[in-house]
Amino acid sequence: MIKDKNSSNQKSPSFTELNRSVGDLGGLMHQTSDTQHPTSFNLTSLLRKNIANLEPYSSARDEFKGEASVYLDANESPHNAPFNRYPDPLQLKLKEKISEVKGVGVENIFLGNGSDEAIDLVYRAFCEPRTDNVVAIEPTYGMYKVCANINDVEYRKVLLDSNFQFKAKELIAATDENTKIIWLCSPNNPTGNLLLEQEINQLFTRFHGIVVVDEAYIDFASRESYTQVLANHPNLIVLQTFSKAWGSAAIRLGMAFASKEIIAVFNKIKYPYNVNLLTQEKAFESLANKQNVTQWVQDTLKERATLIDKLSEVKMVRHIYPTDANFVLVKVDDANGTYKRLVEKGIIVRNRNSVSLCAGCLRITIGTKEENKTLIEELKRIS
Ligand SMILES: Cc1ncc(COP(=O)(O)O)c(C=O)c1O
Repeated sequence: MIKDKNSSNQKSPSFTELNRSVGDLGGLMHQTSDTQHPTSFNLTSLLRKNIANLEPYSSARDEFKGEASVYLDANESPHNAPFNRYPDPLQLKLKEKISEVKGVGVENIFLGNGSDEAIDLVYRAFCEPRTDNVVAIEPTYGMYKVCANINDVEYRKVLLDSNFQFKAKELIAATDENTKIIWLCSPNNPTGNLLLEQEINQLFTRFHGIVVVDEAYIDFASRESYTQVLANHPNLIVLQTFSKAWGSAAIRLGMAFASKEIIAVFNKIKYPYNVNLLTQEKAFESLANKQNVTQWVQDTLKERATLIDKLSEVKMVRHIYPTDANFVLVKVDDANGTYKRLVEKGIIVRNRNSVSLCAGCLRITIGTKEENKTLIEELKRIS
């Protein structure tokens, strides 16, 4: 559900105007915040030392703010406008629009090349390689572990229960003084379920590191986003993406929402122009037409219900797990064999047979009515 939290009719400058008038969101590390911090949460002490002390790159776009008629400061070409100019490094016009739609302050938004960029930045900001560790639920989205390995950070898994839920006290028990991050994903991938709020909420106060709640699939879920409680939890980072409900995986745009202090750290360590002009424009256009997305989500939810109904009639299907996402985890008689047969027919689903707690399972994305029908027909033929 795409919820409009605020409706502002303020006129925004164009992307090219913004290329020349970027505000400074940096240098916020030392400001005090008016949120209720858990007594022992201390952002500066959580940061890697080299990051806390980092002198960030200052681009031409950072150093001159305002309007001019001649720009000879960035070694750009004078030809091929508007692509000759570097894009706004802080994507302010786009953030203003996201702020309107999501009901989150501009200074609480980081944009990256997919939410995968934000996942990597979390490690780079907080985790000292070979010293610090992170704790994550298992099974979950694979990039948390891959990024831990890339950054040479220990990755600790805590197995979910048979309902794919966790207990806060078990995650806390897996932490030690070097645990910087707890990774949560709700709705979880590949299981599809929302994690229990009462357990998530305990972590904000009982764990004094960073709690990440990845909400890549929240637009398909029957619960409000954790972005709405950011002000209460200075150690919370919420991830969302344009790749799922917004139908824009190709433009690579991910969002991280957090305190302005955490966002300032991300802005300090990201590549200077991490979100290109085309992506900024395309995402703005999608946000301006968000009624399309609302309709797509409704269609997907309707198709999800139909697909689940039809799957329950297929002989090989042993169990269909509850889902709040745009996919469904399904236990079948022979996951490997079924997967192979579907591939032979040109139908690709995700084989999760070798994933913890998912033995015998396929993860099926909700497609169009026709795609779902083709899948069901083929599954019935294989059964
Ligand atoms: C839970 C979760 N988070 C993040 C991502 C990656 O999103 P993005 O395309 O924004 O990098 C995915 C992609 O499948 C995902 O399932």
